[in-house]
Amino acid sequence: MIIKEGIHPIPRNTGPILKQLNCFTPGRVNLIGEHTDYNGGMVLPAALELGIKSELSLFKGEFGSVVCVSRNNSETVEFKHSELSRLIEVVLHSGLEKSDAVELAKLPQHHWSRYIAGCVILFRAALLSRHLPQPDWVEQTISIVLDASLPQGSGLSSSAALCISILGNLNILSGIPLDAKTLARLAMLVEHRFAGTHCGLMDQLAVLCSRKDHYTRIDFLEYPVSLDFHIVYAKAHEAFRNHSLLIFKTGVQHSLAESEYNSRRSACEEALKALNKALGLGAHSLGELARLPRFANIPAQSEYLNQLETILEGKSNKSELAKRATHAMLENARVMSAAKALTNGDLQALNGTMRASHHSLDTLYEVTCPELNSACAAVESVVRELCTAVPAPALGALIGPRMTGGGFGGSTIQLVQNSLCESLKERFEREDNPYTKATGLMPQIIITRPSGGFTAGFAVNN
Ligand code: GLA
Repeated sequence: MIIKEGIHPIPRNTGPILKQLNCFTPGRVNLIGEHTDYNGGMVLPAALELGIKSELSLFKGEFGSVVCVSRNNSETVEFKHSELSRLIEVVLHSGLEKSDAVELAKLPQHHWSRYIAGCVILFRAALLSRHLPQPDWVEQTISIVLDASLPQGSGLSSSAALCISILGNLNILSGIPLDAKTLARLAMLVEHRFAGTHCGLMDQLAVLCSRKDHYTRIDFLEYPVSLDFHIVYAKAHEAFRNHSLLIFKTGVQHSLAESEYNSRRSACEEALKALNKALGLGAHSLGELARLPRFANIPAQSEYLNQLETILEGKSNKSELAKRATHAMLENARVMSAAKALTNGDLQALNGTMRASHHSLDTLYEVTCPELNSACAAVESVVRELCTAVPAPALGALIGPRMTGGGFGGSTIQLVQNSLCESLKERFEREDNPYTKATGLMPQIIITRPSGGFTAGFAVNN
């Protein structure tokens, strides 16, 4: 496996091109429902208009290699299928569904090439584990040129988009389509095994299955035991027609994001085990526990936290576990009420639940950071400033904000009245904006709308 600096696609005059495929994979933003996907809970993401374009060419030839070019990173990665055979065996030996790390000694940690190699390895392993023949392209040469409009490290799922892009290309090329749920799961396992992030499945499903102008409500209640999760597409009510999705990119991604993410997940697993033991239950997830009448009827967050702490009495880290579990369990009710507010046109209710979600992520789950909190405060103060400058209705001018994605940097999401979006963007392009004053960082504003998921098409000459 080699990584070369620069853009070195296979020249088109190398040999006959057997197939060409053009795909687009969007990023995603999550409106609400954070750190619930791996806890048997609910999420409400939408795909973005920004994403990754890919151009795949399959060349006739005996090289048996994959050449992948990232125009954004100005790098080319190249490897032979024969180099992957041992790693495919390692994956199958440990079990395709396992999350154990696979050693890719030749590729640097966190480098985008790990995702490409991981996708090819897991895709081929998935075919073998289903007793399907290896596709013809294993003997041929594949060239993939990637061009992204989606920023990396911004909490907008650029790595999920990259994995779905590669897996989607390989799946179509092979003519043995694995279903969307399986592809999404493979993409998630690439993160677990080749990048070391033990994420859930929200991002992969959102970039693959989203529909234009819709939010995707996914319930992961069944997920710990099957791939049978429930997807409902929700369209925003007419009352939101004057609002755009506005993403505020903080320009920071803290290095502890990955390790802290994994430690939140372990804390939730520990809390589930302890709660099950103390209550004599066998729930598969915190999301399942949250739906039991015993928990569903607790009136307030403080009461919830107290009750969990009492049940967890005896654990030395009871207060940490109770905080993590309280967030994971109560966030589901917020997703439900946000989805209802969105479809009923209740601006105030959506605003309230988005803010409550941020507060819970800040104080209970503790995955925010000073930059995310400054971003929320800065957007709020600029909207207030703009509403006084131009007579705009202050009520409903801003819905949210809240952090979106895993946290520790990345982006915030809010719905902003259309008439204010451009002025708000311009305001944050000036260096004297309140966010830059507080953090020294220049933010980036992305104005968007819910978009469709992965799309693919063979080039016309095929
Ligand atoms: C990241 C992960 C997702 C999800 C979010 C938090 O985006 O990839 O699986 O857990 O964080 O909601």
